[in-house]
Amino acid sequence: VKARKVINMFRTTSSDESRTALVTALLFALTTFYFRYQQKQNRKDDKLKLSKVGSRGQYAVKPSTPYLNQFHSCLGNQYHPMENPHGFIPLCLAENKLATDMLAERFMHSAAAFADPSVYCYNSFQGMPVALQAAAYFLARRFLYPDSPDLSPETALQHVLPQNVGLGAGAAALLSHLFFLLGEQGDACLIPKPYYALFDNATELVAGVVPVGIDQDNPVAGPTDQELERTYRAAVNQGNHPRFILLNNPNNPLGTIYSPKVVLRIVQWARSKGMHTIMDEIYALGVHKVSPIYSIMHTCTAAVKCTYVAS
Ligand SMILES: Cc1ncc(COP(=O)(O)O)c(C=O)c1O
Repeated sequence: VKARKVINMFRTTSSDESRTALVTALLFALTTFYFRYQQKQNRKDDKLKLSKVGSRGQYAVKPSTPYLNQFHSCLGNQYHPMENPHGFIPLCLAENKLATDMLAERFMHSAAAFADPSVYCYNSFQGMPVALQAAAYFLARRFLYPDSPDLSPETALQHVLPQNVGLGAGAAALLSHLFFLLGEQGDACLIPKPYYALFDNATELVAGVVPVGIDQDNPVAGPTDQELERTYRAAVNQGNHPRFILLNNPNNPLGTIYSPKVVLRIVQWARSKGMHTIMDEIYALGVHKVSPIYSIMHTCTAAVKCTYVAS
């Protein structure tokens, strides 16, 4: 419409100066139009390039927790009493810095284990046999029989079989694997609230299992059967199939410990619904001496038959 108006003005105008001015205006308008068009095309191309990343990849790079960006800026400005007294202390991070010296020392002295050439090659495909045995021994001594620290390796390996131990790169990765292998897309996992924020990723990102928080009147005591039942029904009403309950003991973020009685009651409730109980005991050995935690391995072996995947 604008172009037509300009052409009409061009026809009706008489002086050469006005015509030159009109031609200049027309050229300017055309150039602007062309640049805007190019910009639009570039934006479209960018979108096309982005769409080459699968929806799962796009979902994975979104901030997984609402506080991730603040956490990143905090990492770049960490507190130091002398060098950065106005820096931040990231309280959202559960790291045991008290153990770093001990770990460094152990790693310095464990180089002998790498003298065996078999550790550099394919072996059982389930994990290095020597590492599986070491993990099984550790689980038997510290989790299954915490009251027998002197348990011999021979006895320990009769109770936790190395072939029943899975090894992986971190608890989060192992949880993702578990949900992927045991569940189906659209299954639901009930988790007592408040819970560790990245459990949402562990359930949903790879396995497509929907996390459903359990509201609790007394989070320290753990969810009651009524609260479990209410959440179960809510998940079903939303069209999901509750197949898991995920417990974290000792608990992050509360720092509380469920008693064996509570754990057993929840396991039995889950069994009555045909659901798996997955227990994350990543902080099992990070408790004060006065409050021994009894692992689910210990609790369930004593009371009900139970299959466990330990990592
Ligand atoms: C309860 C809980 N589970 C799992 C993880 C993840 O552990 P990892 O870093 O070994 O994957 C964390 C880390 O903070 C955690 O607090």
